[in-house]
Amino acid sequence: MTAPRPAVAWIGDADTGHLQLIDQTLLPIEYRELALHTVEEVWEAIKLLRVRGAPAIGVAAAYGVIVGCQTARTASRGEFDARLKHVVEYLAESRPTAVNLFWALNRMRGVAEASSSLSSHELLARLLTEARAIESEDREMCAAIGRHGLPLLRGCSGVLTHCNTGGLATAGDGTALAIIFAAARENPSLQVYADETRPLLQGARLTAWELMQRSVPVTLICDSMAGWVMKEGRVQAVIVGADRIAANGDSANKIGTYSLSVLAKAHGIPFYVAAPSSTFDLTIQSGAEIPIEQRVSTEITHAFGKQTAPDGCRTYNPAFDVAPAENISALITERGVIQPVTKERIQAVLGS
Ligand code: MRU
Repeated sequence: MTAPRPAVAWIGDADTGHLQLIDQTLLPIEYRELALHTVEEVWEAIKLLRVRGAPAIGVAAAYGVIVGCQTARTASRGEFDARLKHVVEYLAESRPTAVNLFWALNRMRGVAEASSSLSSHELLARLLTEARAIESEDREMCAAIGRHGLPLLRGCSGVLTHCNTGGLATAGDGTALAIIFAAARENPSLQVYADETRPLLQGARLTAWELMQRSVPVTLICDSMAGWVMKEGRVQAVIVGADRIAANGDSANKIGTYSLSVLAKAHGIPFYVAAPSSTFDLTIQSGAEIPIEQRVSTEITHAFGKQTAPDGCRTYNPAFDVAPAENISALITERGVIQPVTKERIQAVLGS
């Protein structure tokens, strides 16, 4: 199995370097790398899902701070700090649900606040060091999630996943998909059922592509087929990622995840959520407080450029939903498996 190129990378030095991304909106038809030199380009790439997946959004935003602050590298420190504040606030407006975005931006802001004696030029270099650390820590978190989750998939002949949680969504091998990759290395006949993940088809376009790139057996299904696949006994586990996990374990993830958690419970199948500690938001008590991104109606009425609904048809297009903690068999983090999913266990594993 060969790993694809990183979804997000920094090219060059702090002064003149840029953010490089795989444009995920074009996959699997076209593989194109984009060079982003302005914070406006980074904002647009996050908003339009050229880069997507909670951890990858965090890494891209951290590098977005660098491209956004390059213009102020020779300015006074006061001017640099004002520019940094603007860039951080601007990037924070790109998407609301994945807490990794705000987590990464807060880390970048914290570095600046703790480095008041540095010149603008020195601080820019220090910020790049921090962004690189966010990227490399994410890669390590993916590997650890893979190790911790592997025992949970032992004995499974089939597993169901939703959306895309692999190398395209992170700086490493992924979260839920890292566990699937690890399980497939041990059991090459493991069958992965990938939900297509309407409306933007991250499962069909990205997960199926990643699994096929790495020769992992994958079967694509429509989202509405998941319950029947469970009923037929084709899968012994469901495993998904997350965009924000509240203190009680309620987990926001791609729309359709809530339904899967209910279906898995009804069929007595374990439902696992894999995510790094950077996806936990312990400042909120439950999933009711998680902001759910609402996206444009044309994602539903015009599937990939072709009109598929009557003119003027009303739509509702939440991009995420929340699987309640009581439906989640375990949370799999880089620090270990949290089971049962309770506030106390989360605190014990992640610290307060
Ligand atoms: O809208 P997207 O494609 O950014 O949604 C992504 C997901 O919901 C993923 O499951 C989640 O971010 C976890 S990625 C490791």
